[in-house]
Amino acid sequence: MNDLDSLVGSAQADFAAAATPAELENAKARFLGKSGRVTDLLKGLAALSPEEKKARGAEINQTKQRVEALLTERRQALAEADLQAQLKAEALDVTLPGRQKGTGGLHPVSRSIERIEAIFGSMGFDVADGPEIEEDWFNFTALNTPADHPARSMHDTFYVDTKAPDGSGQLLRTHTSPMQVRYAVKHVKAHRAAIDAGQAMPEIRVIAPGRTYRVDSDATHSPMFHQCEGLWIGENVSFKDLKSVFSDFFRTFFETDDLAIRFRPSFFPFTEPSAEVDIAFSSGPLKGRWLEVAGSGQVHPNVVRNFGLDPERYIGFAFGMGPDRLTMLRYGVNDLRLFFDGDLRFLSQFH
Ligand code: PHE
Repeated sequence: MNDLDSLVGSAQADFAAAATPAELENAKARFLGKSGRVTDLLKGLAALSPEEKKARGAEINQTKQRVEALLTERRQALAEADLQAQLKAEALDVTLPGRQKGTGGLHPVSRSIERIEAIFGSMGFDVADGPEIEEDWFNFTALNTPADHPARSMHDTFYVDTKAPDGSGQLLRTHTSPMQVRYAVKHVKAHRAAIDAGQAMPEIRVIAPGRTYRVDSDATHSPMFHQCEGLWIGENVSFKDLKSVFSDFFRTFFETDDLAIRFRPSFFPFTEPSAEVDIAFSSGPLKGRWLEVAGSGQVHPNVVRNFGLDPERYIGFAFGMGPDRLTMLRYGVNDLRLFFDGDLRFLSQFH
């Protein structure tokens, strides 16, 4: 092997050892650069005779071309490798399962509340919303619950340190019944002139679903739970209407006529007479078991007075039902706490 062949050999080895384009350019400089080995050979021609120059010059030129060809080849190989690496990095495995967005869904109790709103809406009931931090007056006093009533015991509910604008106490509302008063007072104010002129007031027909709070915690009670208040006041609204509204409501809610409703005499300070409402299915896993789902009654005259109305003229009924219980019954859930644990394995079953 002559010196020129060995130069080509070492250029090939150097180019092959270059792993990046930058390394390859450095290797190129060592052979073809200003003081590279090929360039040095060309410089050496000056010392030769004209004949020798011709023969040697041709050989060196050939060598130079071989080195250049090797360089081009290596450049292309590196570019190709680079491209392959890039393609590999960006490769899409179309057989992988897609990444899905969690779709989410309504909480089962929210679903029930939406159903309740839709059903009562179809019977002409408005839907109202009110504060969860409630004033003593609305939660108790206006509802004919005097200051010494046991429901006010510190043990019975969550009192808060803040005061209402009028200086009275505040608490987390223990039921949605304060919404009866808030809504009725507003309604009566809006129709005051007509009422005073002896004209008919449009009936009050409202439901008010929302969160309520009590010191209570077991499989069927939670310190935070939901209620849905209902109020229907007019000149001629009676217990009979309450019965028919409830029958229609429960049959629609549970999508069955296989259902019995029972009114059990009870006591609430703000209704007289009062009744607990129980339902029983005549088939299915809960067949024949009476389940309490609401409290109800004819609104007490003192409460009607607090609405700003004359109880001799205006009368009606109120109820407070438990959407959590209704949801348990509708879906066959046996522990109320499941609703409030936030466990997606449970909740996603309702999506
Ligand atoms: N507020 C009562 C309760 O929480 C339920 C109720 C509402 C009873 C309206 C009668 C009328 O138990």
